[in-house]
Amino acid sequence: MKKVLVATEKPFAPIAVDGIRNVLDKAGYELVLLEKYTSPEQWKEASKGVDAMIIRSDKATADIIEAADNLKIIVRAGAGYDNIDLEACTRNDVVAMNTPGQNSNAVAELAFGMMLYLVRKGFNGSSGTELRGKKLGIHAYGNVGKFVAAIARGFGMELFAFDPFVDKGDMVNDGITPFDTVEELYKTCDYISLHIPANEKTKKSINFDLLSLMPKNGTLVNTARKEVIDEEGLVRLMQERQDFNYLSDIAPDCREILEEKYPGRVVFTAKKMGAQTAEANINAGIAAATQIVNFLEKGDKTFQVN
Ligand code: 3PG
Repeated sequence: MKKVLVATEKPFAPIAVDGIRNVLDKAGYELVLLEKYTSPEQWKEASKGVDAMIIRSDKATADIIEAADNLKIIVRAGAGYDNIDLEACTRNDVVAMNTPGQNSNAVAELAFGMMLYLVRKGFNGSSGTELRGKKLGIHAYGNVGKFVAAIARGFGMELFAFDPFVDKGDMVNDGITPFDTVEELYKTCDYISLHIPANEKTKKSINFDLLSLMPKNGTLVNTARKEVIDEEGLVRLMQERQDFNYLSDIAPDCREILEEKYPGRVVFTAKKMGAQTAEANINAGIAAATQIVNFLEKGDKTFQVN
């Protein structure tokens, strides 16, 4: 019987685990569940003999991939796969996949939840401002960016985007003004919602010079990855621009400094929770399980990333 390990330090909603089990049961596979593990050793131990793994932001290092002595496929139930050592996967004949789009709406909704929390002063009873009529810049118009745009239209925001990989005509059809350069986006928009992946090109690319271009009361909303921010530059900007705000679902290493020095200008979630909804977990978990069955039974490699 084929074995599929679900290794999630931050567990899926129980209903999503039921959904995964259901897909695997139908295929005649066994589900092995490892939730809230506290060390890589525990994960390595659980991965012995399994044919497939489903993970979230769990760091699938070369050590982990190598310890899984019978592994054929690893699926990141989510979009970003910067947590998987893809070279180690390829070296060990392991197919790596993601499940693009499955948790995008949840992330987009959280971006607006954070914006509202900021402009309504943490719901503390004092007078705030509105999102309507403000300029929103979508930095990368992929799956999450599209949901952000749809929600922003409901709020009556003016929409702009920068994404060199997306056809400008498609953006225009969605009621968005596309820019040729990232600088134009930051210069124009009151709010920037970040949706770029973390890779060698993007790491630390959101830096002091770029953020300085934002207009008065500019707000950066980061539901992407903390690695894309140049934290030194961010700290300097928060200091020099007392009107600038930073909201993030992936708290920076300098979280304590920012929270202490700039209350009311920063909002950080307790733990990365953009995709932490029952719906997102069900969508991504079931997609991951289905992709595993399709690969192991039919060799289907759709969504392979290595
Ligand atoms: C993603 O890349 O899909 C999101 O960042 C969600 O990550 P999570 O599964 O750890 O919540």
